[in-house]
Amino acid sequence: MRIDVITIFPDYLAPLDLSLPGKAQRAGLLEVVVHDLRDWTQDRHRTVDDTPYGGGAGMVMRPEPWGAALDAVCRDDSVVIVPTPSGIPFTQGHAESLSSASHLVFCCGRYEGIDQRVVDEANDRWTVQELSLGDFVLNGGEVAALAMTEAIVRLIPGFMGNPESLSEESHAGEGLLEYPVYTKPSSWRGREVPDVLLSGHHGQIAAWRREEALRRTRERRPDLAP
Ligand code: ADE
Repeated sequence: MRIDVITIFPDYLAPLDLSLPGKAQRAGLLEVVVHDLRDWTQDRHRTVDDTPYGGGAGMVMRPEPWGAALDAVCRDDSVVIVPTPSGIPFTQGHAESLSSASHLVFCCGRYEGIDQRVVDEANDRWTVQELSLGDFVLNGGEVAALAMTEAIVRLIPGFMGNPESLSEESHAGEGLLEYPVYTKPSSWRGREVPDVLLSGHHGQIAAWRREEALRRTRERRPDLAP
């Protein structure tokens, strides 16, 4: 997989060379290239924004540098991802389907967003997804692009050491939140690991975990509960 990220703050994306995405790059499963949007400006001040038509607060990103950047970076097989609080909520389902894409292009907007014509034109030429990380507002798309990249990259086939842990975790499979987990020591500060987990009885352990997953899901995310 190749991922291109277009941003006015390339340094924000430095963590992509660390941790999981860094490991995937070294393993040859992933290539990440971060671009400075200002490289596609034409004026002396390398301007990327201007005031909104119709008035109102804040600034909007001008279409010309974005158009030139996408012309240079996109290929026939590109999926263009625009992180925005006005997008569709990003889910594990998006992460799963995007993990088999060959080319992702993240367009990180700042200010009040990118001129909509950029997104509309990209939509005519490639696949575009406007995705939100959640119901809160970040200052720009960079942190959202980082989070989405991590969620996607760890699902690339051959990437995770233990693929079984992918099928049991929260939001995978049945869509329940994950059950609570414990490790040694069995007694810590007067708190005990639940007896059933020490019993060696696999059937009872599985039943307990499912019950706990259900209880958590009903309590914390009733919208996901069966
Ligand atoms: N950019 C700003 N806020 C965002 C959010 N909540 N999700 C994705 N991109 C964003």
